[in-house]
Amino acid sequence: MRKYRINGGIALSGAVDISGAKNAAVAILPAAILSDEPCRIENIPNIKDVTISLEILEALGAQVTRIDSHTVEIDPRTLKTYKVDCALARRMRASYYFLGALLGKHGHAWVPMPGGCYLGARPINLHIKGFRALGADVVHLPPETCEEGDGNFAENYVEIEAERLLGNSIYLDTVSVGATVNIMLASVRARGLTVIENAAKEPHIVDLANFLNTMGADVSGAGTDVIKIRGVPSLHSATYSVIPDQIEAGTYMAAVVATHGDVLVRNVIPKHLESITTKLEEMGALIEEMDDAVRVRCAGPLRACHIKTMPHPGFPTDMQPQTGVLLSMAEGASVISEGIWENRFCYVEELARMGAQVTVEDKTKATFTGVPALQGATVRATDLRAGAAMVIAGLAAEGTTYIEDIHYIERGYEDIVEKLRRLGADIELLEE
Ligand code: UD1
Repeated sequence: MRKYRINGGIALSGAVDISGAKNAAVAILPAAILSDEPCRIENIPNIKDVTISLEILEALGAQVTRIDSHTVEIDPRTLKTYKVDCALARRMRASYYFLGALLGKHGHAWVPMPGGCYLGARPINLHIKGFRALGADVVHLPPETCEEGDGNFAENYVEIEAERLLGNSIYLDTVSVGATVNIMLASVRARGLTVIENAAKEPHIVDLANFLNTMGADVSGAGTDVIKIRGVPSLHSATYSVIPDQIEAGTYMAAVVATHGDVLVRNVIPKHLESITTKLEEMGALIEEMDDAVRVRCAGPLRACHIKTMPHPGFPTDMQPQTGVLLSMAEGASVISEGIWENRFCYVEELARMGAQVTVEDKTKATFTGVPALQGATVRATDLRAGAAMVIAGLAAEGTTYIEDIHYIERGYEDIVEKLRRLGADIELLEE
């Protein structure tokens, strides 16, 4: 059993360097398949989800050369199959990006339904709608009765193929990061123009578009809700550096506020942090923006505020649990409305073990009545961001906190123990 032990109550201070963005890296690595030549990707975070993506690429036959812990070279010319390894695919959500990448390159993809965090139903109907609009045939979809984790693995895969992909206009009924990425991947080498309307605008969508364009693609409008992709016949080699992780940065910012610390959060794009910065300031934090860093301080008590999670540029759902911890210690009552996922408040039960007072209505709305302090306890990471929230709660709490199921946290946070220790935290990985 591996777990974290945290002795709380120490104000974080110093400087922390933010790693490359997980959600950009897990889209860019499969995108390298689309090239006809090797690509070099820099600033990839050293996390489990990236390791799994690289293992999937290797299992497909690509030559993967790890230059150092943050740089990799991918040569897709040796690809030998369109089938993604089951055991690997089921360990992460973003394995479904291999659908778009393999379809876009070879016209055929076979991908097991992904695993990852259970945040509620995670349908892929919009991905499929996009592939079909481009002319692909869906050979197999998992039966409706086949839900994640139900053990009916034999049927739980998607197979798509296309003789030829043709550009088309696709309207996304719901703003979906995953569907936007997959349609971009599938259409980048299709014949003609593809237009994605009501596209997601997250920073990692823009990062993926920039990577594709560096390889010679013709993608415009990423970062707005209409993305245009004019298909090109081939893509060439490229060297590309992944953007900093907006959510990792936000998590450290929240940890500083929770412990009333003073930290320089380096290697960030402050513009990507605006919605997070605004809410932390509303709670009483002082945030100073520099070119590629933000200084976060918090001296006084935390103030209550209301949050609604929304697609970018709204407040990110992936920062919801971390800010929930802050609101559980803020003076007064705060409401968080979760606008993306129906199952994102599982962490509340864990937080309650530490003395938080939270009531959840309809699974998507929670009221936090602030308490003066949280108390150390044994808690679980129920998913990746919920795990990060438990770390923040442990850092702020009086006494000792043990966090179990930390494999979730390791999926998305590089070196979290060392980074926090360098900021003065008393946190330790226990391996029993
Ligand atoms: C991505 C992020 C995840 C983040 C989420 C929302 C990655 C690897 N993961 O997940 O961390 O929490 O965006 O910012 O980047 N939907 C449909 N049909 C579909 C697809 C999605 O109805 O075909 C719905 C989902 O149920 C959800 C909403 O659309 O309510 C947003 O989902 P989406 O943006 O697709 O999330 P992911 O790409 O899975």
